[in-house]
Amino acid sequence: MTYDEAKSVLEKNGQGHVLQFWKQLSAKEREALLAQVETIDFKELKRCAAILAGGGAAAAKKGKPTAPKVAQLRGAPLKKAVAAGEKELAAGRVGVLLVAGGQGSRLGYDGPKGAYSIGPVTGASLFHFHARKILALSVRYKAAIPFYVMTSKANYDATVDHFEENDYFGLDPKNVVFFRQGMWPGMTADGKIILDAPGHVFMSPDGHGGMISALKANGCFKDMKARGVKTLFYFQVDNPMVEVADPAFIGLHTLEKSEYSLKLCAKRDPYEGLGMVVKRDGHFDMIEYTEMTEEMNTRRTKTGDLYFKFGSPAIHVFDRAFLEREASKAMPLHLAHKKIATVDASGKTVKPAEPNGYKFEKFIFDALADAKGVSCLAFDRADEFSPVKNAEGKDSPATCRADLQAKWRRQLLKAGVQVPEALPLEVDPAYAIDAAEVAKTGLLLRAN
Ligand code: UTP
Repeated sequence: MTYDEAKSVLEKNGQGHVLQFWKQLSAKEREALLAQVETIDFKELKRCAAILAGGGAAAAKKGKPTAPKVAQLRGAPLKKAVAAGEKELAAGRVGVLLVAGGQGSRLGYDGPKGAYSIGPVTGASLFHFHARKILALSVRYKAAIPFYVMTSKANYDATVDHFEENDYFGLDPKNVVFFRQGMWPGMTADGKIILDAPGHVFMSPDGHGGMISALKANGCFKDMKARGVKTLFYFQVDNPMVEVADPAFIGLHTLEKSEYSLKLCAKRDPYEGLGMVVKRDGHFDMIEYTEMTEEMNTRRTKTGDLYFKFGSPAIHVFDRAFLEREASKAMPLHLAHKKIATVDASGKTVKPAEPNGYKFEKFIFDALADAKGVSCLAFDRADEFSPVKNAEGKDSPATCRADLQAKWRRQLLKAGVQVPEALPLEVDPAYAIDAAEVAKTGLLLRAN
């Protein structure tokens, strides 16, 4: 993009101030600024500005929210679902989608969160645990399971480097597809793009919901079609306990011909920060925990259970065709009021004491309302969910390592092997991916 082109498009969209320091920029800074302007989607920016102009409040949704039906698979229905999921995996129709473009600000780790060391013995990274599970499944089902990893622009190189340094954790690099999500400029309340340096627009990732448009923009749907992938298992980078592409979950989704399926777990307390899947006005919807009222959080059934009991840790299965259909739609935008460094009239960068600007994000669960079929499956959080969100306290590396080890200890105990609490324990998922395989290892340990 040339200076004249940038000037024209910016002025047309009321953003001419982006070039106000042009004269004082170096050749390199000018080139970088033009490259940034080229990535801005001005149509989407108009949507952001309109939301700000309207006061930022989302339109009220129609219908009273009710709790959805949540399957608890056991016995014959479980066997049936596992068989159906295994059939999909063995036929090579399953792919895995990981969203790893977040900024991990609460953890405060300098690097992609996926490279964070979590293995209690080896110090292996979060990415290690995810990738080794895919490796185990592709060996078990003798089929390729392509792994699509979404990064932000900022953490793309460091993510690819981490996979390369670790030989892709044993996966065939041909089956690992990295792609970048979109970035959006921060805006002031009057809809103006924020410069955080004279030659630099403040930009941030467009949220996990940005995955859908990023899959399209990066040719991933074409890649999936070429590989015969029809079903996608989706998860977040911070939970090393997740059962990647769990056959029962894939099977339930397939048998019920759903377009969007969710694994849900009982909230640890009425106020836990998990999204709540609800049905209203004939559609499924997700209520963010910040939007749950006191009455909704604490409402009880006749038997004393929480009425809104099951929260979503963002473990999903999607139909590829559904995501492709969604990619042609504009997703809702959510705004966050933040402190954003900004340049003053003289070009000096100033750090504000109070929130001064807005970031916009898309959320993956906003696609729920459009799904023609939705399945919900309950799971036991002790076995599958312990995210690394904070540096300390709840949902931190310490709690995650403790939960991982407690799970492996329980599984080994079933095979009669008691591992003392004081002994650090780690199981490589490529060696033993589930309770049955860990138990087999336990029997081997006992035999020796
Ligand atoms: P979180 O909401 O936990 O955000 O993301 P985060 O960036 O990891 O951490 P904080 O809030 O800054 O502390 C949930 C999942 O969505 C991904 C994250 O990488 C994580 O797997 N994500 C989030 C993206 O891929 N892109 C985004 O723009 C935001």
